[in-house]
Amino acid sequence: MTLTERTRAGFRAAFGSQPDGVAFAPGRVNLIGEHVDYNDGLVLPLPISTGTAVAWSRCDGSEVEAVALDFGKERDRFLARSAKPHQPADWRSYLRGMAQGMDAQGVKLAIAGSNPRGAGLSSSASLCIALGRAMAAAGKVDPTHRELALMAQIAEHEWAGVHCGIMDQMAIAAGEPGHALLLDCRNLETRQFALPEDWAVVIVQSGVTRGLVEGHYNARRHDCELAAQALGIASLRDADADMIRAANLDPVIAARALHVVGEIARTAQAVSAIEAHDLAAMGALLRASHASLRDQFEVSVPAVDELVDLANAAIGPQGGARMTGGGFGGAIVAVLAADAAPRFIATLEQQFAQPRRAALNPMIEGKGRHLAGIEL
Ligand code: GLA
Repeated sequence: MTLTERTRAGFRAAFGSQPDGVAFAPGRVNLIGEHVDYNDGLVLPLPISTGTAVAWSRCDGSEVEAVALDFGKERDRFLARSAKPHQPADWRSYLRGMAQGMDAQGVKLAIAGSNPRGAGLSSSASLCIALGRAMAAAGKVDPTHRELALMAQIAEHEWAGVHCGIMDQMAIAAGEPGHALLLDCRNLETRQFALPEDWAVVIVQSGVTRGLVEGHYNARRHDCELAAQALGIASLRDADADMIRAANLDPVIAARALHVVGEIARTAQAVSAIEAHDLAAMGALLRASHASLRDQFEVSVPAVDELVDLANAAIGPQGGARMTGGGFGGAIVAVLAADAAPRFIATLEQQFAQPRRAALNPMIEGKGRHLAGIEL
């Protein structure tokens, strides 16, 4: 059964009628540009093939009524205008935040998803954008990608308490399948880059799920703000390495800032590597990004470092791998030749997953998806 069929069937079982439609939003993987979105930096994410589906139908009255098919068919029912965040934050917080942003009324929703949760693949932004699309269709309104993304960011900030940047929401709202999205987080300008046909983007899980990491995330964001303040600039987008070294900052704050300026530069270089079809250059950038996230930004964990090292050894010079997403566990992303992907996955199964009894849950993305010969 496809995700859409499952969501339709869940809607019928919960509400006893057919939905009027089903909205979908993908998850995302970030190729490079990590922890720079809230510093007005450049990021290069890619929508993935898993996502969230929301079956919807209009109904009489003003209430929003929803069922979460993946969370024990939990239900929620409220008036959007007077909704309050659910404590502790869970799927209902996102639902209520999006309903208020969209001013949703008289709608029934059934939600189901295929994104791995706690993997750094943005299941929450995917949920918000899918909800926004369903509410837009039900309310016969047509928000822009940017409006939807900003609404989803408010849901994350004010309804779930995570002070995230705008990358995930924009990647999911505006990204096109098989294309990397270059997003300038300073002005939200976007450009799509088709990935070369013979490259594959492979996502594998470390088995360490992220959880309760909001505190660490908000702390890193705060470090970056302290650095910008000390340098007398609006954001680290305006900094460079010489400026940071000359400023006599606290060493930890300086290391955070050096990651950010290095990572923004690497993201711009990754765009050139994609345009030049240069897998070796792309791989070197991914490896450098990981080292910086591990050593300067300190958001990796030992299991993920080990997986990245094994992945880089298995890939060799034609490509590379790094942690992806907010960090503290979750998935890694690798870019490599599409025809090398099946063997790469088999090597990681043998060297990482089997000894740990962990599941890699490999996902092959990018235009090379159909070339890699694995049906996922
Ligand atoms: C999380 C946040 C994003 C971004 C990444 C790190 O996914 O939601 O805004 O900051 O972490 O790059």
